[in-house]
Formats: sequence, structure tokens, C-alpha cells
Amino acid sequence: MNQCEEQAEIVRNEQLAPEIFRLTLTAPEIAWHAHPGQFVMARISPCYDPLLRRPLSIHQTIGSHQIQLLYKVVGKGTRILASLSPGQKLNLTGPLGHGFDLAGTQAVCLVGGGMGIAPLYFLAKEIMRATTPPKCIVLLGARTAVEFGPLPQDFIDIGVTKIYLATDDGSLGHHGYIAELLHQHLDFHPWTVYTCGPHPMMKAVVSQCRKQGWECQVSLETMMACGIAACLGCAIPRADLSGPYLHVCKDGPVFKAEEVAWL
Ligand SMILES: Cc1cc2nc3c(=O)[nH]c(=O)nc-3n(C[C@H](O)[C@H](O)[C@H](O)COP(=O)(O)OP(=O)(O)OC[C@H]3O[C@@H](n4cnc5c(N)ncnc54)[C@H](O)[C@@H]3O)c2cc1C
Ligand code: FES
Repeated sequence: MNQCEEQAEIVRNEQLAPEIFRLTLTAPEIAWHAHPGQFVMARISPCYDPLLRRPLSIHQTIGSHQIQLLYKVVGKGTRILASLSPGQKLNLTGPLGHGFDLAGTQAVCLVGGGMGIAPLYFLAKEIMRATTPPKCIVLLGARTAVEFGPLPQDFIDIGVTKIYLATDDGSLGHHGYIAELLHQHLDFHPWTVYTCGPHPMMKAVVSQCRKQGWECQVSLETMMACGIAACLGCAIPRADLSGPYLHVCKDGPVFKAEEVAWL
């Protein structure tokens, strides 16, 4: 394990959409060791409010020194994050958890919804860096067009040519859920599907993968107090509901879909 604690310096904190921000930080230790699918725990305030660190996926590393986080303002911690300016410091621990497994993939499909797009971009960059990148399809979903911000173009800029969008309100791409596009765009290859987003979306993706016999890796989100397997607050049941619980912070956040229970 290569976890560390860093006083990361804020380089940029860009607003991409009404509630969505992208934070660029200088964090050389974390950048060096990070793998797609891993996350950091950010200490939002030097005071005790909010007391607990907040988990955020690593959206990408830039060179060997910088990382980016993509976040949506949903409460007190992320609201404070949005107010931070270049030059200020943010205490981070990371990289944490178990990321995506890339071994032996011939044809891959990335399915992201909402802020679930954050870790998938880092994964796509890693996939496209291969000397012979596998066949790669990206499916992205959001509630409404503006919430995508520049993200679809970011995927295109790294060489993804097949990218399909869906919005809940029909303002861009398919009108409906992104999981509905899987059967339209995936043929009978032995696909590996990587997904991150709201639980119902991932459940629908997992169900289709199971029917088609496609391998599927899921990146899960739970409430997290410590991020280092100390509080047991992120426990989830195993697929067969037996044995000790899995912990999203240590055993995940990325799991093979068949490892966990889809209740
Ligand atoms: C491994 C992991 C990676 C994550 N990556 C990202 C990311 O890249 N970008 C991003 O925007 N968010 C991400 N999240 C979710 C993020 O951690 C929460 O949105 C954040 O902690 C909210 O903090 P807050 O103080 O603003 O909100 P709070 O005031 O703590 O809560 C506001 C609302 O959000 C809900 N909430 C808070 N934390 C979570 C959570 N972990 N899961 C589900 N609901 C929650 C609360 O129930 C409440 O309704 C990730 C979570 C995990 C576990
Ligand atoms: S967040 Fe504390 S054990 Fe996982």
C-alpha cells in the first residue's frame, strides 16, 4: 500500500456547471501512486466542522505532480470545497482503496452517471494510453445537458471515438437512462463493462451484463467516515449474504459485480 497524507496546494478550482466543480491540486505523492478507481479523503476544514474527511474519486493525474477531483456541491463539505482558491492548501490522504482491474481487456465499455463519471475519465485515459488500445465505448448519463459540462469533449480529446450520452430530461442525447443504451451499442464481443454512478443505474447495468455474460466491474459509493477500514461504516453484504461484510473503502470501491449483493 502506498498511502500518504499530503498538504496539497490548489492550482485551480473551476466551475463546470451550476453545482459541479473541477479541482486541480499539486499532490506529487498521491499523483505518483494513483490508479484509476482509487480515491482520496479530503480534510475540508482545519477546524472541527465538518469533522470527517470527505471521499472523492481521483478524476485524473496530470504529469507526475498533479491530481484532479471532480465534485458536485451537495452539502456543507463540498460547499466549502467550492469556495477554496488557488494557493490554498487541502489536506488529503490517498490514494485509497482498490481500483479498476485492467488486465486482459479486449473490448471495454465505460458507463458513468452523474459524478460517477469522475473515476471513469482516469480509467479511459489509462485505457487509451495502451500501445494498442482495446475497442472502447463510453456511455455517459446526466440529469440534464448542462451537467455534463466539458466532460464528453474531454473523453473525445483523449481519443475515445464512440461516446453516447443520455439525459433524464432529453435535453441532450438519448431521452432516458444511460443503461438503456447498452444493448444498442454493444455487440456480442466478450465485453468488460466498467460502471460508476447512482445505485439504480449500476444495478440496471449489472443486470444486463449478467444476462449477456459480460464481465462487469462496479465502483461503489457508501457513506465513509475513515476511508481506512477502521470505523466499519462502509460495510456492504457479499453476493451470497454469507461471511463477513465487505468494506467499500478497503475491499473496493471497485468490485467485480458478482462479489456484492444487488438488493
Ligand atoms: C469512494 C467514493 C468516491 C466518491 N467520489 C466522488 C466524486 O468523485 N465526486 C463527488 O462529487 N462525490 C463523490 N463521492 C460522494 C462524496 O463523498 C459526497 O458527495 C460528499 O462526501 C458529500 O459531502 P458534503 O459535506 O458536501 O455533504 P453532506 O452534508 O455530508 O451530505 C449531503 C447529502 O449527501 C449525501 N451523501 C454524503 N456522502 C455521501 C456518499 N458517500 N454517498 C452517498 N450520499 C452521500 C448525504 O446523505 C446528504 O443527503 C464519493 C463517495 C465515495 C464513497
Ligand atoms: S470508511 Fe471506515 S471502515 Fe470504511
